[in-house]
Amino acid sequence: MRKYRINGGIALSGAVDISGAKNAAVAILPAAILSDEPCRIENIPNIKDVTISLEILEALGAQVTRIDSHTVEIDPRTLKTYKVDCALARRMRASYYFLGALLGKHGHAWVPMPGGCYLGARPINLHIKGFRALGADVVHLPPETCEEGDGNFAENYVEIEAERLLGNSIYLDTVSVGATVNIMLASVRARGLTVIENAAKEPHIVDLANFLNTMGADVSGAGTDVIKIRGVPSLHSATYSVIPDQIEAGTYMAAVVATHGDVLVRNVIPKHLESITTKLEEMGALIEEMDDAVRVRCAGPLRACHIKTMPHPGFPTDMQPQTGVLLSMAEGASVISEGIWENRFCYVEELARMGAQVTVEDKTKATFTGVPALQGATVRATDLRAGAAMVIAGLAAEGTTYIEDIHYIERGYEDIVEKLRRLGADIELLEE
Ligand code: EPZ
Repeated sequence: MRKYRINGGIALSGAVDISGAKNAAVAILPAAILSDEPCRIENIPNIKDVTISLEILEALGAQVTRIDSHTVEIDPRTLKTYKVDCALARRMRASYYFLGALLGKHGHAWVPMPGGCYLGARPINLHIKGFRALGADVVHLPPETCEEGDGNFAENYVEIEAERLLGNSIYLDTVSVGATVNIMLASVRARGLTVIENAAKEPHIVDLANFLNTMGADVSGAGTDVIKIRGVPSLHSATYSVIPDQIEAGTYMAAVVATHGDVLVRNVIPKHLESITTKLEEMGALIEEMDDAVRVRCAGPLRACHIKTMPHPGFPTDMQPQTGVLLSMAEGASVISEGIWENRFCYVEELARMGAQVTVEDKTKATFTGVPALQGATVRATDLRAGAAMVIAGLAAEGTTYIEDIHYIERGYEDIVEKLRRLGADIELLEE
């Protein structure tokens, strides 16, 4: 059992460098399949989800050359199959981006689906609606009953194919990052114009569009709710650098606020942090913005506030657990309404072991009654961002905290122990 041990109560100080964005990298790496020549991707984060994406590309037959831990060259010309490896796909949520990439390039895709997950059902109906609108036939879908980690890939996969892909207009009933990504990937080489309406506007959507255009695609409107993709017959080589991870940055900013520290968070795009910065300032943080960094300080007590998670540019759901930890120590009562996922308060039970007072109503609304301090305890990471929240709680708590199931955290946070130690945290990885 590998776990973190944290002795809390130390104010973080110094400077931390933010890595490339996980949710951009896991979309851009499959997108390299669409090119007719090798591509070089820089500033990719050194995390498990990236490693698995690269292993999936290799298993498909692409030539993957690791230049260094943050740079890779992908040559898709040797691709030999349209079927994604089951064992690899089982270990990662975003493997479904290979549906759009393989369909867009080769007109055929077979991808295992990990099924539901900790956040909720993780439906893909909008992805399928997009593929069908482009002229694809859905050969097989997973049965409705698939659950988290259902290893039964005999049933639990999606197969789609298309003689020819034709541009079309697609309205997304719900704003969906994944569906927006997959439709972009499937349509960049389709014949004609594709219009995605009510598209997701996250920074990683814009990053993917910029990468595709660097390869010679014709994508416009990314970052707005209408994205237009004019199909092109071929794509060429490109060198592209992934944007900084705004959720990793927000996580470190929350850790500084939780420990009343003073840290320079470097390699960020402040505009991507606007909703996070605004909320942390409302809670009492002092945040100074520079070109590619923010200085975060928090001297006084935390103030209660209300948060509703929404699609970008609203407050990001992926920062909800981390912010919940801050509100559990704020003076007064705070409410978080989770507007995206049906089950994103799993961390509350773990936080309660540390003395937090939180009540959850119908899984989508939590009321936090602040306590003067959290107490160290043994807790577990119930998912990626909940795990990050437990780290923040341990850093702020009195006494020692042990965090188990840390593999979730390592999926999305590069070198988190080393980065925190450099900020003065007393954190250690225990290999028992
Ligand atoms: C992406 O997930 C992110 N993952 C998630 O981050 C993030 O929480 C989410 O977007 C929202 O920002 C990656 O980018 C790899 P959605 P995704 O499709 O694409 C519903 C993290 O911590 N929906 O935007 O799966 C869905 O149920 C992860 O880094 C449908 O109804 O999210 C949800 O309520 C966790 N039908 C809402 O849309 C569909 O076909 C938003 O989901 C697809 C989605």
